[in-house]
This record gives sequence, C-alpha cells and structure tokens, in this order.
Amino acid sequence: MIVEPKVRGFICTTAHPLGCKENVKLQIEYIKKQGIINGPKKVLIIGASTGYGLASRIAAAYGSGASTIGVMYEKEATEKRTATPGWYNTQAFEEYAIKDGLYATSINGDAFSRDVKEQVITRVKEDLGKVDMVIYSLAAPRRTMEDGTVYQSVLKTTEDNYTNKSWNLRDNTISEATVIPATEDEVNATVKVMGGEDWMDWIKALSDADVLEQGAVTIAYSYIGPKLTYPIYYNGTIGMAKKHLHESAERLNQTFANKGIKAYVSVNKALVTQASSAIPIVPLYFAILYKVMKEKGIHEGCIEQIGRLFHEKLANGIAQVDEHNLIRLDDYELKEDIQKEVFEIWDRINSDNILELADIKGYWDDFYRMFGFGFDQIDYTQDVEI
Ligand code: NAI
Repeated sequence: MIVEPKVRGFICTTAHPLGCKENVKLQIEYIKKQGIINGPKKVLIIGASTGYGLASRIAAAYGSGASTIGVMYEKEATEKRTATPGWYNTQAFEEYAIKDGLYATSINGDAFSRDVKEQVITRVKEDLGKVDMVIYSLAAPRRTMEDGTVYQSVLKTTEDNYTNKSWNLRDNTISEATVIPATEDEVNATVKVMGGEDWMDWIKALSDADVLEQGAVTIAYSYIGPKLTYPIYYNGTIGMAKKHLHESAERLNQTFANKGIKAYVSVNKALVTQASSAIPIVPLYFAILYKVMKEKGIHEGCIEQIGRLFHEKLANGIAQVDEHNLIRLDDYELKEDIQKEVFEIWDRINSDNILELADIKGYWDDFYRMFGFGFDQIDYTQDVEI
C-alpha cells in the first residue's frame, strides 16, 4: 500500500511503518551519541510507544543498557488501515533492541486494567525477576474501571470561561477560542484518568508482587507551563489531575519508604505529541515557543529532554529536584528571557504575521514525523507492507 498522511484536525489517521522506524532509529542514534551512563538496568515503561514514554524507553535501553518492558494501547493494522504510530514504533524499537542484544518486550493493552498489571508482573517475574525503575508516561482520554464505569478526561477550565487567541490549524489563521468551565464531575473524571491514582495502583501491585528492587525509582511526567496557559492548563481540569499526580508522588514516598522506593514527578517541556495537540489555545503557544527556543539554540524534542533527564537530572542515581521535590526539565522553557519574548510575540501575533512570528513549519514537521511522515530518507511513493 502507498501510505499518505490523512490529517483530520489535530490527528492523522494514517501512519507510515518505515517512517516510524526511521523516527525510532534517529532517537536511538541521538542517545548512543550521548554515551553510556550508569543508570537503571531493568525498566518498566507505562505508555512506552510514543512521545515521552518512547523516548524514555530508548534512553534507558541505549543510555544504560537497560532491559525494557513497555506497556501501550495501540491498534494493529487491518487490511485497509495502517496501524497506529505507536504500534510501528514498538515493533521497530523491539527489532533494533533485540538485534543490539538488549532485552525488550511489550504488552499492548489497557494499562488501567488489573489484567494488564498482572500480565506485566508475570513477565517481570519470568524474565527479569525485578525492575529497578518504573516510568509512568500515560496520556489517556479515558479510563475504564473494573466495574465497567468509564471516566472521560476533559480539557476545560475550572473557574470561568477563558478566551484567548487560538491558531486554526486548518488554515493558519488566528481567531479567538473560548474554553468553558468543567462541571465538578468532569473535574473529578479528569483526575481519575490523568491523576496519580493509577500510578499508585501500579506501584502497589508491583510492590505486593515483590517485583520492585529495594530502592527502585519511579517517575511520572507532568507539565506546568507559563502563566498564560494557567487558566486552561495548570488551573484547568488537566492541571487538577497533575496536582493529584504531584501529591501521589509524596504519598508513594511515604507508603513505600520501608522499601526505599523513590517517586518523582518530572515536569517536562511543552512538545507536540498526540496528547498535546488536542489542547485548545496551547498549540499557538507551542509554535511561538519553538520559534524563540530554536533561535536561542535551546530547543529540545522528547528525546533531548529525556536524554537530559538521565544524563543530568538523575546523574549517579541522585535526582536534582526543586523545593517541591519536582525534577524540572521545563527549566529552559520557563527561562525569563524566553517567556518574555514569547509573551511579546503573543501580543503581536495575528493571521497576517503568524508564519513569520511562530514556527508553524516546525510544529507541522514534528506533527507529521509523529506519524512517520516527512523523513527525507523514506521514499513515500513506494508500496509498503503495513
Ligand atoms: P503520547 O500521546 O505521545 O503517549 C501516550 C502513551 O500512553 C502512548 O504510549 C499510548 O499508547 C499510551 N496509552 C494511552 N492510553 C493507554 C492505556 N489505556 N493503556 C496503556 N497505554 C496507554 O503522550 P505524551 O505527550 O508523551 O504524554 C506522556 C506524559 O507526559 C503525560 O502524562 C503528559 O501529560 C506528560 N507531558 C506531556 C507534555 C507535552 O507537551 N507533550 C509536556 C509535559 C508532560
């Protein structure tokens, strides 16, 4: 089949197997260039197939020679449809890792379920004995509980309507978008999906099954961002979930202190991923941020961020944290000079100057690459096995 991108709003419904493989290969090469570190050796990554989770898997495997077990929720190809990018990424990663003598196995299923937790525990026991690191990088739209109740996460404010500039991805115009407040039920549902409850459930299940090494480290990813996006992000429904995640790290540290388990939240940089493209108003901030950070030579993608997490922020097993016990990979994003410039641009930007003031090309390049498109090395006119 000849696979072309089919973009609908902020999602692409096709993925290119060879392009996804290229994406994984480039990330592996980046980590290899950084050199070997004395890091984790047996790592479980929950949400391992795209974005920050995939980068974490690659950084652990190729940065410190770790065996990795990845959990993801991806769709296989059918006769007519390509698989999801995370499916191809996982296949490619396993192929590279195994060829390079690294243990890698994956479980494709709903990470929220008891069943997947049990499958992972069995796999760890059989193949690795125990794990010394657990990375929690889920970005999910919904969570189904054991009794069948479904919680849906929403991207809304928690106070008043919030209106600001928003970039219309279809035609590169800027208009105003209004984000409306969530009901209390919607806030609670978002916390259920994206908060720390399931992270706690995972660590408890792994600890009860005795598959965590003494002193194992667990890290979940979060975002805070600038004041500009606070109404829709940090003080919005998703922010409530992230605050719950931050509190869960504290609870994990208290609950599992006797096992020496250390739980951290790493606050990462805003980046185009499948999860983040869905948030209103935010993509315009991303495109301006990309422009400013690239001009200053400090732009990073997922792999550069996670490379820095392992090399700097967790060097020699000691986590560098702020006064709230948070690892700050958003340190460059939130630099005063960067934010000052982003806000100056934010005030001036409109439909006429958007191409000049924001990195629209960079945004779309990242977007297409997530689905395996736009790599020079791939001939997209060729038939490909999906
Ligand atoms: P992503 O959409 O690229 O990755 C999500 C991962 O979760 C995929 O591996 C997917 O298969 C998996 N997944 C989703 N639902 C699942 C389920 N029910 N069971 C098993 N696996 C499931 O997302 P991204 O952006 O890498 O996000 C990961 C984490 O990083 C999230 O907590 C997000 O809030 C956080 N983060 C993202 C930032 C961004 O700008 N993209 C910035 C800072 C933090």
